[in-house]
Amino acid sequence: TAPALLRNFSIIAHIDHGKSTLADRMLQITGVVDERAMRAQYLDRMDIERERGITIKSQAVRMPWTVDGRAHALNMIDTPGHVDFTYEVSRSLAACEGAVLLVDASQGIEAQTLANLYLAMEGDLEIIPVLNKIDLPAAQPERYAEEIAGLVGCDPADVLRVSGKTGEGVPELLDRIVQRVPAPVGDPDAPARAMIFDSVYDTYRGVVTYVRVVDGHLDPRQRIAMMSTRATHELLEIGVSSPEPTPSKGLGVGEVGYLITGVKDVRQSRVGDTVTDAVKPAKDDLGGYRDPRPMVFSGLFPLDGSDYPVLRDALDKLKLNDAALVYEPETSVALGFGFRCGFLGLLHLEIVRERLEREFDLDLISTAPSVVYEVRMDDGAVVSVTNPSEFPEGKVGEVREPVVKATVLAPSDYIGAVMELCQSRRGEMLGMDYLSPERVELRYQLPLAEIVFDFFDQLKSKTKGYASLDYEPAGDQAADLVKVDVLLQGEKVDAFSAIVHKDKAYPYGTMMAGRLQKLIPRQQFEVPVQAAIGARVIARETVRAIRKDVLSKCYGGDITRKRKLLEKQKEGKKRMKMVGRVEVPQEAFIAALTAD
Ligand code: GTP
Repeated sequence: TAPALLRNFSIIAHIDHGKSTLADRMLQITGVVDERAMRAQYLDRMDIERERGITIKSQAVRMPWTVDGRAHALNMIDTPGHVDFTYEVSRSLAACEGAVLLVDASQGIEAQTLANLYLAMEGDLEIIPVLNKIDLPAAQPERYAEEIAGLVGCDPADVLRVSGKTGEGVPELLDRIVQRVPAPVGDPDAPARAMIFDSVYDTYRGVVTYVRVVDGHLDPRQRIAMMSTRATHELLEIGVSSPEPTPSKGLGVGEVGYLITGVKDVRQSRVGDTVTDAVKPAKDDLGGYRDPRPMVFSGLFPLDGSDYPVLRDALDKLKLNDAALVYEPETSVALGFGFRCGFLGLLHLEIVRERLEREFDLDLISTAPSVVYEVRMDDGAVVSVTNPSEFPEGKVGEVREPVVKATVLAPSDYIGAVMELCQSRRGEMLGMDYLSPERVELRYQLPLAEIVFDFFDQLKSKTKGYASLDYEPAGDQAADLVKVDVLLQGEKVDAFSAIVHKDKAYPYGTMMAGRLQKLIPRQQFEVPVQAAIGARVIARETVRAIRKDVLSKCYGGDITRKRKLLEKQKEGKKRMKMVGRVEVPQEAFIAALTAD
């Protein structure tokens, strides 16, 4: 297709505002899938995505649409909707000239949508504002059209009104995309350059890489090179999704499609990288490539120790499809053998954990999520700490922690509640704007560690569910942080070590000591439960001793009962963990880690 007849766009929307439904409707109206064949929510292929109603991986679909007798090809590029995947969103947007800003007409815009709208505006994309779900009785299109018009800088009358459900307004939206979104421009005679905006592992076909061609042409059987690594591959297949993958004769300027090279790991075909010709490579890449950097770490342990090899194989498999997932083996006194894993954020952690449990039938326990601290020692050494139990002993000079810029959107009634929460989490206010008299945008700088610790839940509960949150990394800062250890009879229990702000060390220590004291069964001797910073004890509880053993109840009389008791005890022993001399059932540790 000639570039003049191409339109590349994405849909920016908050979870549940109806992106998948609208995308389905577009596929149906353009005749790409007929109604009967239309699987509900065609674009979301992963089961978990569908069940949780979130879009994780972006993909692209090509649709024909004729305006004024000219047949155009529209490429719809799907974007993930969650805060952990901002980088993937930015690459999807970089592959487009336009973006549909889709807002639920009964809800108004949310923080993540706003953040992605700003990304699109920075990238000079043409924004097409659309209110969705106008069939709902609760829809307030007039009110929210004002709000969106203010953000985009257009007339409220220019905000389209559609219903993905009934199809109302959708043909007009397709027309508008053709009329408003600029056609792609590029140099057809230059060496090939294409940007990777998604990369998906497929069990049968290996990695399927989605690209947008900027210059030149990609042909079947061509030898290509990845510009970040200089690795070269032969193209085994090149094509477009419409919506099933269909091989084509190649992709030219502005076109969007997929490549298959036979590589087996998405790390060999990374989002943001530039694909070029191996024989006649381009001089410069397209820019914007970034290595995925895990921000949140957590230990994952199988509840049943014999599942360790299953967990290892499962992680190896997931990694093929997830360039951001990192892990290494970890051994814990309390939890046994497992892995220290790094994630982009909390949702990413949750998704990985859920996939492990569901697709590989594992029961897992995860330790409290921790961010990456940079510890500068007095002797000049700098240590990066992803596991609190590895916090260096000795002369610590400065500890630096990652910070984020957070945006909260909330009804103006809740400004006080939001500010209070952010302040209690060491937040620093950066600014505040009213989107309308009823809705306000608050901007804060916050330590990432404070966000990963139930910030979102607190925000939701303090605003009756009305606030929404988005954040992006904003460097690091020095902070007064200490490591708090939890000890049983003087022995550290690694899984409970935490790096916390000095002001929160005492509450954390008291809480953990209290919790464990209740959960640890009484032993033959007294067990002190302590929380300590280095050698200084900051909290103490005691598990009192029992004097009699289990058998004393039986008076030596009933021999079968005695045997049963002994057997039961033996069975229990299997899951017992020894901390020094103290015997603790693993369940107690798990309960202490998962309690609220
Ligand atoms: P994610 O995939 O989680 O990003 O959500 P989404 O934005 O794709 O939303 P989805 O299309 O799954 O729609 C969310 C809910 O809104 C579903 O229950 C839809 O049935 C409903 N919905 C979507 N569009 C409309 C609409 O135009 N009108 C009405 N009444 N409901 C709609």
